Amino acid sequence: MDALLNGSKLLGHWPSILGGLIIGLIIKYFTFLRTKKLRSSKKLPVDGKEQIQGLSNKSSTEYKKNYWKPALAEKPFVPFVPGNDLNPNGARHFYELVRGRRSIRTFNALKKPPISTIENCIRAAGTAPSGAHTEPWTFCVVEDPSIKSAVREIVEHEEYINYTKRMHAQWVADLRPLQTNAVKKYITDAPYLIIILKQTHGTTDDGRKKQHYYNEISTSIATGILLCALQAAGLCSLVTTPLNCGTALRRLLNRPDNEKLLILLAVGYAVKNCEVPDLVRKPLDDIMIKY
Ligand SMILES: Cc1cc2nc3c(=O)[nH]c(=O)nc-3n(C[C@H](O)[C@H](O)[C@H](O)COP(=O)(O)O)c2cc1C
Repeated sequence: MDALLNGSKLLGHWPSILGGLIIGLIIKYFTFLRTKKLRSSKKLPVDGKEQIQGLSNKSSTEYKKNYWKPALAEKPFVPFVPGNDLNPNGARHFYELVRGRRSIRTFNALKKPPISTIENCIRAAGTAPSGAHTEPWTFCVVEDPSIKSAVREIVEHEEYINYTKRMHAQWVADLRPLQTNAVKKYITDAPYLIIILKQTHGTTDDGRKKQHYYNEISTSIATGILLCALQAAGLCSLVTTPLNCGTALRRLLNRPDNEKLLILLAVGYAVKNCEVPDLVRKPLDDIMIKY
């Protein structure tokens, strides 16, 4: 036996091979238990339950196809309608447009853009791609002064605690060049607040829970488009992420608890002599790597 073990390099590693086999079998056993539990769980459509009991592993693909119904309707594809032909100047013009966007913190309280402009910007945001086309976003547009005051009260209360207790000293120091603090006058001055909520899940037309995959990424992409649309409309904005204000703002706006605060966006026009931090953006070579 010794001679055999010494003679074969592979057999010389038998303890590792045996260990690997045992781990593999354990994993397979737990996967089997999990699948069994899932199949008998209440999540399974009732009419599918009895049938699955008689299904072998081979037909589980058939089972999945028949009983896990997609949230979207399964319809035939339609022809793709291309947008504009490739236009090199389009990108240049777009860059010229968006490079002028700055976060402003002093809004003109007396100048209000029409709601139709805000609506068109949100329409543009709603064209964003989303995980499995779940469109997991809600844009709450607030112009009522009493609601804006209530928002400000919530945010200032929390931000005072954030600045004095929750945020690390380094974080507070990093914000110093931006001259931000717990006083948020822009919340009541800006003619519109757009409170952007990500929906963690939704409901299908037939009342089932609908998973919202990548809801934060999808809503952030939509927000990026919204910022560009606002800029194209000649409006100014400020993206804010007030820490610990989510639940209070959601309750104030009477939104369901599958909707979570992502961004509080102030929108309007800048005051006449508005100033912004003197920031420099990274050059192309620092943000793009060609392969
Ligand atoms: C995710 C995110 C969170 C932000 N949160 C805040 C905030 O809470 N308060 C604030 O005054 N600005 C906030 N800002 C604005 C940034 O400070 C600002 O975008 C940055 O300083 C760059 O300036 P610019 O927008 O003028 O290019 C936030 C921006 C982003 C993208």
